[in-house]
Amino acid sequence: MAENKATPRGPGGPGGRGAPRGGFQKPRDLRGTVGKLMRYLGRYKALLIVVTVMLVVSSLCTVGGSYLLKPLINDYILPGDFAGLARMLVVMAAVYLTGALCSYGYARIMVHVSQNTVAQLREDLFARMQALPLRYFDAHTHGELMSRYTNDIETVSEALNNSFGSLISCTLNFTLTIVMMLVLNPLLTLVTFGVLAVMLAVVSAIGSRSRRYFAAQQKALGAVNGYIEEMTEGQKVIKVFNHEQAAMEGFRQRNEDYQRAGTRAQIFSGIMMPAMGNLGYMNYALTCCVGGYLAIRSGDLGGLAAFLQYSRQFSQPITQISQQVNTILSAVAGAERVFEVMEAEPEVDEGQVTLVRSDGSGGLPQGAWAWRQTDGSLVPLRGDVRFEHVTFGYVPEKTVLHDVSLYAKPGQKIAFVGSTGAGKTTITNLINRFYEIQSGTITYDGIDVRRIEKDSLRRSLGVVLQDTHLFTGTVADNIRYGRPDATDQEVRAAARLAGADSFIRRLPQGYDTVLSGDGGSLSQGERQLLNIARAACADPPVLILDEATSSIDTRTEQLIERGMDALMAGRTVFVIAHRLSTVRNAKAILVLEQGTVIERGDHEELLAQKGRYYQLYTGQAELD
Ligand SMILES: Nc1ncnc2c1ncn2[C@@H]1O[C@H](COP(=O)(O)OP(=O)(O)O)[C@@H](O)[C@H]1O
Ligand SMILES: [Mg+2]
Repeated sequence: MAENKATPRGPGGPGGRGAPRGGFQKPRDLRGTVGKLMRYLGRYKALLIVVTVMLVVSSLCTVGGSYLLKPLINDYILPGDFAGLARMLVVMAAVYLTGALCSYGYARIMVHVSQNTVAQLREDLFARMQALPLRYFDAHTHGELMSRYTNDIETVSEALNNSFGSLISCTLNFTLTIVMMLVLNPLLTLVTFGVLAVMLAVVSAIGSRSRRYFAAQQKALGAVNGYIEEMTEGQKVIKVFNHEQAAMEGFRQRNEDYQRAGTRAQIFSGIMMPAMGNLGYMNYALTCCVGGYLAIRSGDLGGLAAFLQYSRQFSQPITQISQQVNTILSAVAGAERVFEVMEAEPEVDEGQVTLVRSDGSGGLPQGAWAWRQTDGSLVPLRGDVRFEHVTFGYVPEKTVLHDVSLYAKPGQKIAFVGSTGAGKTTITNLINRFYEIQSGTITYDGIDVRRIEKDSLRRSLGVVLQDTHLFTGTVADNIRYGRPDATDQEVRAAARLAGADSFIRRLPQGYDTVLSGDGGSLSQGERQLLNIARAACADPPVLILDEATSSIDTRTEQLIERGMDALMAGRTVFVIAHRLSTVRNAKAILVLEQGTVIERGDHEELLAQKGRYYQLYTGQAELD
């Protein structure tokens, strides 16, 4: 928040989350990651061979073209052979044209290859994210995961688009140029090597400092972005607490840091080009002097012209190579982070019992839900859920549920009450098998939930989560989310059951109203009604309502109570409610405190016990 007075230059300041970690970060396992990338590129082997051939031809043409100056001058210009000169010029033009065509060709193919590869990478990453357990998302922020797509994959794309080809082409050009220079004039090449040594020293000196400054710039940018993200999300809270000035001040500090870091980084990277340019000219002048003297003595004017051409070209690739190496290294580092997510342990599903609808055989009524065991026998789904001595913690250090035992008989309404953080939501997470328990067993109709296929298990449970989430789409689409093949009538019936129908019909386009941004235009209560309608539409045998009506006013709640009762009829229902009046008619009420069940009974029994429930209930009654 705005009151966060983190020192702007302190390490690990705000913005670490979601901040681009790119820059010139080096990959940890260069070889392994390149290997994995290569496997992605492997599908384009044929195209990559064509690219390599084109790269080589393009380099040969570019470098070879300059060599033609030697015969051009010595054999045609100096003797005055105009016809020969014209022929030679045509040859030169053809060589350069071939080179240019090959450059264009390989660049185009690389764009094709890289866009396809990166699309595949994104798809695989997204697919893996769908398979990751919730535990993974607890440990990694949204910003961090977003940055795999917005930052890391983009650097890979950039490197494959350009840097990869450029690096090879520059290296080839550089090597070929030196070879040609040695062929033309070994003595003059020594002069060039002297200058080359100076150039390499400059590149590495400037390069290492500029890398440092760039990393600092990247970090400062991360801080600015993280701050903007946080402040935008908290805009309402900022206004409520009149924190605009403080927010502005915090931003100003980070912005200034970024500006300073950016200036330093850009100055250094700005020095590189002119410095290399000047050294290049110095090399040219030196070569002219020494070369001119040698040419006068040998009479090889054409050789000198070609050599001078090379000595002008040869410094260009050096800066480019060092830049491309950096881009490629940070792309490999990005790819490494992408592969890290892809290699994270997916949610395991060893369950083999599946949920089926009976076809009328085996003594079950047609259309009834049943569990199909591995031996093919059917067990009717009744909704009998039991916890036996369940102990669980999200992280090993902290046990959240201690030795919890409970049972819900088919068709019963079971309520959990208890203060915030007592572990109510956690229990529902475990029925769903979002997390694995440390000890104890959870059974569903007598079957250990670990033996039930997760898709089947979750299909059999309708959950109205405590945190509502609506997707971009129409109201009807959102209700239909739990059962895509539901008809319009069924969608409406579900909405009526949930008490959502009347407000939906008042929306501008009724059921076709498009919701976006998590249903931001609806009130919290309306969003909850839609969530209940969604669960009603899915028509599950077991229903879990986690504070589903917490934001709905008492009157509306009473109105939907009848619908809810209809929804609950014949189903096992777990209700978590902070308003105790809603759980009064539950068959059994479990009072949780710090992860243990401390009381159990129906409303009257618990009141008679005069324990925690009595306190909670009478405390609330006073508030009313
Ligand atoms: N994803 C999570 N990772 C780690 N701890 C969690 C997570 N979710 C909940 N907890 C912790 O578990 C305890 C019980 O939480 P929860 O079951 O959500 O309580 P409530 O009874 O309010 O629904 C709390 O101390 C909470 O901080
Ligand atoms: Mg909760």
